[in-house]
Amino acid sequence: MELDNFLEKFLNELRKNNLFRENIKENTLSFIINDYLGLRNRKVPFKIFSKFKKLFTSSASPLLGGYSNLKEAFSNYLKFLYKKEALIFNTGYSANLGVLSSLKHIDNLVILVDKLAHASIYDGILLSKKPFYRFFHNDVNHLEDLLKKLRKKYKYLYVITESIFSMDGDVAPIKDILELKEKYNFTLHIDEAHAFGIYGKNSLGIFENYKEKIDVITITFGKALGSFGSAVLASERFINFLINTSRSYIYSTHIPDINVLISYLNFLYIRKTPSLKKRLFENIIYFRDTLKKAGFIPLSNTPIQPIFIGEKDIKEVLEKIKKMKVQISLIRSPTVPKGKERLRISLRRDHTKKDIDILIENLIFLLK
Ligand SMILES: Cc1ncc(COP(=O)(O)O)c(C=O)c1O
Repeated sequence: MELDNFLEKFLNELRKNNLFRENIKENTLSFIINDYLGLRNRKVPFKIFSKFKKLFTSSASPLLGGYSNLKEAFSNYLKFLYKKEALIFNTGYSANLGVLSSLKHIDNLVILVDKLAHASIYDGILLSKKPFYRFFHNDVNHLEDLLKKLRKKYKYLYVITESIFSMDGDVAPIKDILELKEKYNFTLHIDEAHAFGIYGKNSLGIFENYKEKIDVITITFGKALGSFGSAVLASERFINFLINTSRSYIYSTHIPDINVLISYLNFLYIRKTPSLKKRLFENIIYFRDTLKKAGFIPLSNTPIQPIFIGEKDIKEVLEKIKKMKVQISLIRSPTVPKGKERLRISLRRDHTKKDIDILIENLIFLLK
């Protein structure tokens, strides 16, 4: 292949810089997957499946027959809860890509984005070809400086951030952001990927109580719902705009009903089983307490727990991780800036105290 030499050199460069990535399989004691409520192995009575036809493919884009009655039913349920129109997308990645890239049709618009926002948000922004500004992570003063400057220059301001950040597990300062919204009048888009299903009286996300003031919300089914897929919640007008412009939505075979069915069933199950969330939050408290006793400082109150590796040699850390009895991930550049490499630990409802003890023992082996 003509590209062979180039590819070999490229991959060798990644290896040399400890940035080479591989697919990994989940092993028995995993702290890397995002199935926070431990639902991925939940058994669903087989007879439910026989009620549906075409369960394994929708065979078409949603605009050409791919939006089934089941999808409509789940959308309507989400609409009822959020008091916003709901549109199901294939994944959280394609939802963010679709929404943000559609902004290219709006003249005189500028995007403001948190520096640590997810790759799907940045990729959508790049496709929108709109000017964009990054505000320092969770820094409302910096956001306000930018808003002040840009309000005079642009007709439309679009601010996007995450509720729980995917790499650090910290939470956006929503009250301050909403105060700025009152003052500068922008469109606010929040990605609740890591909070949907876990937080809120109705399990709608950590900003459930502010949902009326948020214009666009992304949720995903691939994390707490133990399934696959996503949805965007927004006004009827905005959703119609997406149906007409969002290329990742229009030009792709839509998510199979099997994933929507499992998402819907698991969401109903979460809503009627408060003990799931309770157990998860007990695990978070136990992890934080045990971590403190081991001499580390816990940095997050959510299921996502970062532990910075500081000056430690990346290669050495990677080699040690491979030898460990638990699976954790080392997040490296370009996902996070160089020098900010951190272990990312994903806590689940179905971890036992013993699992967490083993994790902490391994963290001591790794970092002390
Ligand atoms: C904040 C955020 N948004 C969107 C996504 C993408 O969601 P999905 O995995 O459903 O494509 C992720 C996934 O990691 C994420 O962390």
